[in-house]
Parts: sequence; structure tokens; C-alpha cells
Amino acid sequence: MIRLRAHAKVNLALEVLGRRPDGFHELATVLQTVDLHDRLTLEPGPTLSLTCSPSDLEGEQNLALRAGHLLREAYGIREGARIRLEKGIPVASGLGGGSADGAGTLVGLARLWGLDLDRGALHPLAERLGSDVPFFLYGGTALAEGRGERITPLPPAHPLWFVVVVPPIRVPPDKTARVFARVDPRHCSDGSRVRELVRRLRRGDPPAPELLGNTLEEAAREVFPALEGYRQALLRAGASAVHLSGAGPSLFALVSGPEEGWEVLEGLHRQNVAGMLLHSVPEGVVEETGQGPWPP
Ligand code: C5P
Repeated sequence: MIRLRAHAKVNLALEVLGRRPDGFHELATVLQTVDLHDRLTLEPGPTLSLTCSPSDLEGEQNLALRAGHLLREAYGIREGARIRLEKGIPVASGLGGGSADGAGTLVGLARLWGLDLDRGALHPLAERLGSDVPFFLYGGTALAEGRGERITPLPPAHPLWFVVVVPPIRVPPDKTARVFARVDPRHCSDGSRVRELVRRLRRGDPPAPELLGNTLEEAAREVFPALEGYRQALLRAGASAVHLSGAGPSLFALVSGPEEGWEVLEGLHRQNVAGMLLHSVPEGVVEETGQGPWPP
């Protein structure tokens, strides 16, 4: 049996550089994994199957199950596996939960089936599952380019603390496509803000507040009209700046540490808005069953 944690991410900064002929958007984004995770348990089984808590996420479109099928086909595996997924990351929230599950399943099943595969081998499969999936094979702090699949690991950022609000609003299943479809070409930029953030992180400096920000924010506000109210709630609670993670709807504020974080959480509580205090972690997929850390 293999047990893994698959960690969530926030996008510290995200620039859309333009729309590509294949319909995807060219990105430059800095991602950071945080201490919020899903749990995956993998056991040998006759076929490939998935049980999930909550159970409404079970089904062929689940990225954990799709990852299993992809790996099985790619390496001609005859064995099956029972995949159990316990969600801790809010679903379709912009925190990368589905993508983390996809990457975690690739890593875990490769081990369960005795395949000696490193990141380089799993990367093309991860890429086929979704633009965000390859990052989770690395985790920590990383630059992602292209449609999100080209990963350059960065030195672990200073311990970063975040107050995250996941607005309790209905999210359409094709949320990411909808948000990207609304990106106004006039809001695209040349990637220099993200490049400057990368330079700072490589020097070991903390991220400068003016370098954060997400091109998708305006498009997300059109898809989720209620978003603005939650942004205002975070500002009223004392956050100095509020950013969208991925295509949203999660919002986050970078805080100086747990003390400031608790103050912002209290400010949110007074407005009946739920928030989470999270910190950065240096890994994406973490195996808990003693076969050593990922990557080997
Ligand atoms: O790759 P993924 O399945 O996560 O993408 C979902 C949708 O989001 C794509 O079909 C595309 O419409 C949009 N997208 C995009 N540019 C990206 C990533 C995603 O336009 N870099």
C-alpha cells in the first residue's frame, strides 16, 4: 500500500503573454505549494478503480483515475489498483487540487507497479492530464511557462504565509476555459514582472508586493461576479493586497507571518467570511509509506 499527500498551490504571480494558435494562452507564472493537501491511498487491485470522499468526485473524468489509465497504457501494465482519494483541497477553487491528485497518482502508481520512473519520464504524461499537472511533480517554488507545463524549479522561497479565502460560490465545470476565454488581449503583458520576481527569488529575497498579481483577475470577476465582495472583505480585514490564485475563485493575501495572519482571519470572521491561514511548503507530492521521498 502507498499513501501520499498531494499539496495545493497558489500562483504568486501570473502573467498571460498572449493567445496561441492552439487556443491555449502563453503564460509566465510563479507557483508555490502550501500546507493544504489531498490524501491518496493506492493498493493493488484487479482493475483500476477510484473511491473518493466526497463521493460525487468519483467517475472517469477524475484526474487521479485518468492518471492511472494513462500510466497503465503508456507502460503496458496489466495490474490494476484501488485508488482512494480524500479531498482536503477545495474542489475547482484555483488551488490546483485536481492537478495535484493527477501528479500524485502518477508518482504513487509508478511505485506501486514497480516502475522506476523519474520526473522526466512522468512529465509527458502529466502534461497530457492538464497544464498545471507537471508543476506538482516538482512542487515547492517554480516558474511555469508555455501553457504552464514548462517548469523551472526555483530555490525554496522564504517561509511565506497566506490568508486564503475560497468563496463559497458555484463554479461551472469548464471554469478555467471560461476564464481564459474572457482574457482581454489588452491585459496581456510581456512577462517582465514575473521575470523580476524570479530574479528576486533566485537571490533569496522575499517576493516584492508590487510583483504579485494575476492577469486572469478581471476575467475571473466577470465569470464570478461575487468575487469582488470577498476581495473587499479581505481588504477590510486588514490585508494590504489581495490576489487571485490561478483561474480562481480562491483569493489570497500574503501576510508577514502567523500573527498578522490570525488578525486578518479574525477580521474575516467578524464579517462571517471563512478563511485559512496557510504557509509555503517545499514539496508537491509527499510519500508517507517509507519508500523515501519523491523524487527518489
Ligand atoms: O490544460 P487544462 O486542461 O487545465 O486547461 C483547461 C482549459 O483552460 C483549456 O482548454 C484552455 O481553454 C484554457 N487554458 C488556456 N491557456 C492555458 C491553460 C489553460 O487557455 N495556458
